[in-house]
Amino acid sequence: MKRALIKGTGRYLASHLVTNDDLAKIIDTSDEWIQQRTGIKQRYWIEPGSVTGSSDLGLEASKKAMEKAGWKAEDIDLIIFATLSPDIFFPGSGVFLQDKLGLSETPALDIRQQCTGFIYGLSIADAYIRAEMAEKILVVGAEVHSTGLDKTDRGRDITVLFGDGAGAACVEAIETDKETGILGSVLHAEGKYAESLMAELPASRCSPERITKEMISDGRQYPKMDGSRIFKLAVKKLPEVTYEILEKTGYTLDDIDMIIPHQANLRINEFYMQKLGIPPEKMFNNIQRYGNTTAGSIPIALDEAIELGKIDTKKDLVLFSALGAGLTWASLLYKFD
Ligand code: ACO
Repeated sequence: MKRALIKGTGRYLASHLVTNDDLAKIIDTSDEWIQQRTGIKQRYWIEPGSVTGSSDLGLEASKKAMEKAGWKAEDIDLIIFATLSPDIFFPGSGVFLQDKLGLSETPALDIRQQCTGFIYGLSIADAYIRAEMAEKILVVGAEVHSTGLDKTDRGRDITVLFGDGAGAACVEAIETDKETGILGSVLHAEGKYAESLMAELPASRCSPERITKEMISDGRQYPKMDGSRIFKLAVKKLPEVTYEILEKTGYTLDDIDMIIPHQANLRINEFYMQKLGIPPEKMFNNIQRYGNTTAGSIPIALDEAIELGKIDTKKDLVLFSALGAGLTWASLLYKFD
């Protein structure tokens, strides 16, 4: 049967380092508050004033992933691009990436799903491969948050959390009877929480204009979050969706070599780890250095964990999990071989 293997990964962080102390110079916050509540020490933002969209960061991550996979751009059958911060309102970033890769006609599919975007993207790639609709799929998660954050005291709860960055994976079909590659995924969404974490504008539901000066002065273009509600949902649903994928695939927690969770808040991941009862070395976190890069966070963490030797790409069983705006949450089990 066809199985979906990750043949190469790549990451790219924006170049402008922003420490917590840098933020404390422009908004009412402190390094102590940010580290205590989130674990974040620093993040990278695009250079102020530069013209850099999510597809630009995605391109750099993709080039690195393709080099490791031994792919040329022309090999790609499908691009899946996950982002909540597309280059422009429409079309999506996938077509910009396609063009920047020097391709014409290769299909490009944009998905949202925010922090869960990369897992949704991998599960779509897996389905295309199992259905024999594609052989080589580039899955990208990329965000430029910094140009959409409220950098005043009004936005301090959210602005300190986010970083700009991208990760990519080259997902390739192989014919095998072995239990390898993407073993399964579980996807969930619950729209009743959609407005608990959202950036409203520009909005087609706003009539007669999607965005007006009054709406802008009210700050409705910026993300808003009911942080404690999302926090409580995360520490409940991440363990649940972990057990769900294990049950679905017939594995146990003891079989897992590494969990790569979404990087929204180190405290969320510590609660998650405690609930599972796993040791710290079985969960990879890098939010301290990059902040929350949303759709980019899991592929960035995967690429870094491989590079640091935290994952043995000859044998490890790795579980991905995420929860974010939507509400969406998901898990996916992957066997390296
Ligand atoms: N600096 C200093 N003080 C702050 C800041 C800041 N940056 N932000 C908020 N505060 C203040 C608040 O005003 C509040 O003050 P008060 O007690 O006087 O009212 C106090 O700190 C506590 O605020 P809380 O919101 O209760 O702080 P909490 O401990 O809940 O941490 C946080 C906030 C970090 C946002 C947390 O709720 C969280 O991480 N939530 C989940 C985030 C998440 O997982 N999001 C999903 C992924 S993102 C995506 O999908 C796009």
